[in-house]
Amino acid sequence: MAIRAFVFDLDGVITDTAEYHYRAWKRLADDERIPFTREDNDALRGVSRQESLSRLLKGRSISESLAQEWLARKNAHYLEYINQLSPQDRLPGVTAFLNATRGAGLKLGIASASKNARLVLDRLGLTGRFDVIGNGHSVANPKPAPDLFLWVAEALQVPASESLVFEDAEAGIDAAKCAGCLTVGIGKAKVNHADIYLPNGLENANPAAILSQLEADRSTRG
Ligand code: BG6
Ligand code: MG
Repeated sequence: MAIRAFVFDLDGVITDTAEYHYRAWKRLADDERIPFTREDNDALRGVSRQESLSRLLKGRSISESLAQEWLARKNAHYLEYINQLSPQDRLPGVTAFLNATRGAGLKLGIASASKNARLVLDRLGLTGRFDVIGNGHSVANPKPAPDLFLWVAEALQVPASESLVFEDAEAGIDAAKCAGCLTVGIGKAKVNHADIYLPNGLENANPAAILSQLEADRSTRG
């Protein structure tokens, strides 16, 4: 097995938008007098907008039209925040890592649950760096379903089993593994199901070293 593509989640891997998602949900929650803490927000990492609202409501039900209005309002708040993003908001090491990946002859893809992924990549000045951008509009079933990773693999014309996925959320790791990809867990969040783990994200990471580590782990496991 040779890895031919690196596929990146966006939020928490390429840039840290979790704070903006938090502020946008918090504004909505405060306006609607729903308790919502930073810990509650941690449970929304990698989760679609719709599912995030269900978790925020903690079992309380609201009408479909009200849900749509709240989702739109949350997104309007979020757009306000991300309009201020710039290339300086790339996480440390991202630019060098993407260059090294391209230099190693690998394909590059994005697999993000966000419907705003293209806008975020535009603001970061990174849209043109990726061969394929899968986002919250690409498939019907969000992570942890494997659909988005399968969609990206097909668009890249690389089998999922030859793709290595970089993810900061367990829902994303589970989705990628279910699609048949190998996985790298990123950052401080708990991603216990990943094949390998980079606690400092892409800072000082090296594509060749990651591929060697995967190969070494595979031969140890037999
Ligand atoms: C994921 C984020 O990437 O995208 C989640 O980790 C977010 O926090 C999800 O809810 C959907 O994003 P958006 O931009 O479509 O609301
Ligand atoms: Mg993420």
